[in-house]
Amino acid sequence: MDHFLYRDGALFAEDVPVADIAAAVGTPVYVYSTATLVRHFRLFDEALAGMDHLICYAMKAASNLAILKTLAREGAGMDVVSAGEYLRAKAAGVPGDRIVFSGVGKTPAEIRLALEGGVRQFNVESEPELEAISAIAASMGTTAPITIRVNPDVDAKTHAKIATGKSENKFGIPIARARDVYALAASLPGIDVVGIDVHIGSQLTDLAPFETAYSKVADLTEALRADGHDIRRLDLGGGLGIPYTRGNEPPPLPSDYGDLVRRTVGHLGCEIEIEPGRLIVGNAGLLVSEVIYVKSGEGRDFLILDAAMNDLIRPAMYEAHHDIVPVIEPAPGAEQHPFDVVGPVCETGDTFARQRVMPPVAAGDLVAFRSAGAYGAVMASEYNSRPLVPEVLVDGDKFAVIRARPTFDEMINRDTIPEWL
Ligand code: LLP
Repeated sequence: MDHFLYRDGALFAEDVPVADIAAAVGTPVYVYSTATLVRHFRLFDEALAGMDHLICYAMKAASNLAILKTLAREGAGMDVVSAGEYLRAKAAGVPGDRIVFSGVGKTPAEIRLALEGGVRQFNVESEPELEAISAIAASMGTTAPITIRVNPDVDAKTHAKIATGKSENKFGIPIARARDVYALAASLPGIDVVGIDVHIGSQLTDLAPFETAYSKVADLTEALRADGHDIRRLDLGGGLGIPYTRGNEPPPLPSDYGDLVRRTVGHLGCEIEIEPGRLIVGNAGLLVSEVIYVKSGEGRDFLILDAAMNDLIRPAMYEAHHDIVPVIEPAPGAEQHPFDVVGPVCETGDTFARQRVMPPVAAGDLVAFRSAGAYGAVMASEYNSRPLVPEVLVDGDKFAVIRARPTFDEMINRDTIPEWL
């Protein structure tokens, strides 16, 4: 459920007409709903109630400081994967002991930054990384809390580009080798082994792969404890999918996921961490765009928008579906028409939808891409020298620009011309 609903024939973000935001800020623009963000966070929190837990929001999904602050206020920790994300989490007021550092290629500078500023744990993905963390922590006279990310060789049954838990993926340490790597960790200076980490992929719409992976983690917990390791924390990753298409059967709810966590690892007495990104912010964001032209092609009509693949790359990159709705509610029974919905960027890949059946829309109308909050603005670029898309946060009847659209001068003046030119 989200807070983007039609009221008296117009799409609202909570209590603000979407058209008012477009008029004030221009299009394209991302619009987020505070109530939806908070609601989704609380669903996870309630789902894990009764277990000692921390929800570390995977901020790669949407990392605007205002979004981070909204979630931090609810008690969220953060899952970060770069120095930039770490510094954003800090800038939003998240203390180091609520920041989990993930990622397959942490650099020495990133490890040092997190050890200096405080970190809840590093989720370690390889032996060389473990050795690097050990050497850096020891040289600083400190100890790094770590988990090892294990790769359980589970098919997450999601898009190949976002599946991470198969043995051929670059992530984690093969679970069969985990005991050896934990033994190595225990022998190294500057390392405090606190638990196990697993993350098998994103946009999972079936709980079965989670069940398989978490059962393997439960077995591994017992084996590692028998080996003498104090496994007291399990980071179960993110990945629960969201409904992208209205009317289709929705994926399992956070409460179903919470029951699964309780069933598979609840008996171990570990502190539970999860790293959801998409489910918290995905349906809390719209991308609002204006129709520039309606063009008749050979046997098809094109809806040419002012948003493009540089603003929302998911359809081009993952063949992702986003519902696209007019900001003025169509009359009941309005005639529907198939359009290819495209942006102005100069490549055919700049196509949001093919033969999408839509109510009547005309040049100058506003449309909204639903479910665009996760992996939308954060993956935007300035391709075709289109200024980075701005972001707006709504809270009740208030809205604020949380990232302004750069001016053309700001965009161009970031470049410098060498003195020899
Ligand atoms: N934890 C780790 C270690 C991750 O790699 C990810 C996502 C998450 C948590 C959060 O997963 P979520 O709950 O959001 O599914 N750009 C792609 C998605 C990439 C996901 C990368 N990792 C997309 O637009 O679909």
